[in-house]
Amino acid sequence: MNARLALFSDRWRDRVAGAVDFLQQRGFDGRVGLILGSGLGNFVDVVEDADHIAYGDIPGFHSPTVAEHSGRLVCGRAAGVPVVIMQGRLHPYEGLPHDELLLPTAVLACLGIDAAVVTNAAGGLNRYFAPGDLMAIRDQLDLHLADPLRGLLAAPMGDPGAAALGRRGGLADLYDPALARKLVAAAARCGVPMHSGTYASMPGPAYEAKAEIGMLRRLGCDAVGMSTAPETVLLKRLGVSPVGLSCITNPARETGQPELSHADVVEVGAMVRDRMATLLLEFLPDLVT
Ligand code: HPA
Repeated sequence: MNARLALFSDRWRDRVAGAVDFLQQRGFDGRVGLILGSGLGNFVDVVEDADHIAYGDIPGFHSPTVAEHSGRLVCGRAAGVPVVIMQGRLHPYEGLPHDELLLPTAVLACLGIDAAVVTNAAGGLNRYFAPGDLMAIRDQLDLHLADPLRGLLAAPMGDPGAAALGRRGGLADLYDPALARKLVAAAARCGVPMHSGTYASMPGPAYEAKAEIGMLRRLGCDAVGMSTAPETVLLKRLGVSPVGLSCITNPARETGQPELSHADVVEVGAMVRDRMATLLLEFLPDLVT
């Protein structure tokens, strides 16, 4: 059996296995997984020998409810690297419980990937960030304040040794530090401006109040969004190395900013996606050497 499937609780294993079997029969596998956030889905256009399937056609998957979000699984080769791509994700604010939201990520991991690049659109809390900038995520603050993996894993507290130490399965280096450094180096090689920082994940769906933005800045966060944190924890617990990449679509300022709509975020996402595609094509081969 797929070793990762053995890590799931009884109630989740069959659901994940059903989708994995279905996709493997269609030839879906890859070395690297990518999760493409709001407005960033066009990276799939550079995938060669691509096969794709709508989430709604995969057993157990839900379709995204947000109009601008696509929901497809794509596999093929990018920069010569076999990839499986989640083009769009579900968000907690869409009203589904965490196990439904995380099912596609669990399936992605069980298709055999070694590493995953998790991308998102985010507001820039750091004063030096401008719309269109990219940020390598070095760490995260999960402000959903609920254990997203509750009930999903067979041994939720990690191996017995880790549980004895009171650690939740060792998230000290949640975002692989060596891979994050390689991401920054790849950005320098292809001339893409790049920051590093801490990502705060908020429940949404409203963009943050000024006081919340002030709080997040005082907590040391550099970017804020509404995704990524739960799926990154799941990937790490399943033995996949996560790499995080935020695309800054707007400044998040406690001094106030113009009213922000989801359409604005998607529009700037469209502006940065060429930059992100250039970077990913440069970086992907580093993940398989
Ligand atoms: N806040 C939360 N999520 C976001 C933002 C923001 O300012 N921009 C893009 N996604």
